[in-house]
Amino acid sequence: ARGSYEYIQVSEPRPGVGQVTLNRPKALNALCTPLINELNTALRAFQASPAVSAVVLTGSERAFAAGADIKEMAPLTFSEAYTSSFIESWSELTTGALKKPLVAAVSGHALGGGCELALMADILYCTATANFGQPEIRLGTIPGAGGSQRLTRAVGKSRAMELVLTGRSFSGDEAERWGVAARAFPSHEALMEAALATAETIAGYSRVAVQAAKEVVNKSQDLPLRDGVEYERRVFHGLFGSQDQKIGMKAFAEKKKAEWSHQ
Ligand code: HXC
Repeated sequence: ARGSYEYIQVSEPRPGVGQVTLNRPKALNALCTPLINELNTALRAFQASPAVSAVVLTGSERAFAAGADIKEMAPLTFSEAYTSSFIESWSELTTGALKKPLVAAVSGHALGGGCELALMADILYCTATANFGQPEIRLGTIPGAGGSQRLTRAVGKSRAMELVLTGRSFSGDEAERWGVAARAFPSHEALMEAALATAETIAGYSRVAVQAAKEVVNKSQDLPLRDGVEYERRVFHGLFGSQDQKIGMKAFAEKKKAEWSHQ
């Protein structure tokens, strides 16, 4: 339910678009376990809602998220972390709980787990001055929510090693240049407008095709090329069984706007 969250805000700011705003300002949106649980609950609700086709995830102008909650982590023992599978719940987002596209809109700090959360999104937009980084090495630890894997795929090994081993930050400008971010914007307002507009554009298409498109692009991160191309072809063939493929192609031939059935 919309009103029952402590650490996030949930809204539907545009037709077909859901928004989650991380809202723990006193700790710069540090990602404590209850916050991640609320995020998972909100994303599952958007996944289930026929009124939402795409989701925007954002923080505040000052911080997307300054990392996992250091104060929560500090006293953990190995056996507590291991037996509770600490951080595993963060993976819900990437393991099929949300099949609808997720656009991250990153302003300010996106450090450690905050950077990793942004890297889990399907599309990452940021401000030019956003402050990304994997500073875990300074705390005597390493990235634990996929940063060493997703950042390396995004920027290449040498750059990822430099960032992870020194803990230095990189800007939204650099993120755009390196392909971590799809685009960087001059202001928080421009960022939010673009993120919502992109989500609204996606929400205007067939939900069947959109889910398939997200699925096949994400497969490229896991599969060797030949298997990925074959996987894509199978899903592409499958879409000939959808109504929306017929609707979309007929509308093109008749020079009309497609009215999607989402079937
Ligand atoms: C808990 C945090 C926090 C965090 C900030 N705060 N980051 N609390 N966990 N990750 C709290 C501060 O303690 C402070 O609380 C309040 O937020 C405001 O922060 P300040 O430091 O006073 O603000 P500022 O001087 O503007 O500095 C901003 C900052 C700095 C550069 C982002 O807060 C910072 O370095 N934060 C830690 C960044 C980091 O190391 N992240 C990686 C975490 S490890 P009080 O109560 O004092 O007002 C990680 C592991 C991932 O993410 C692996 C598994 C997911």
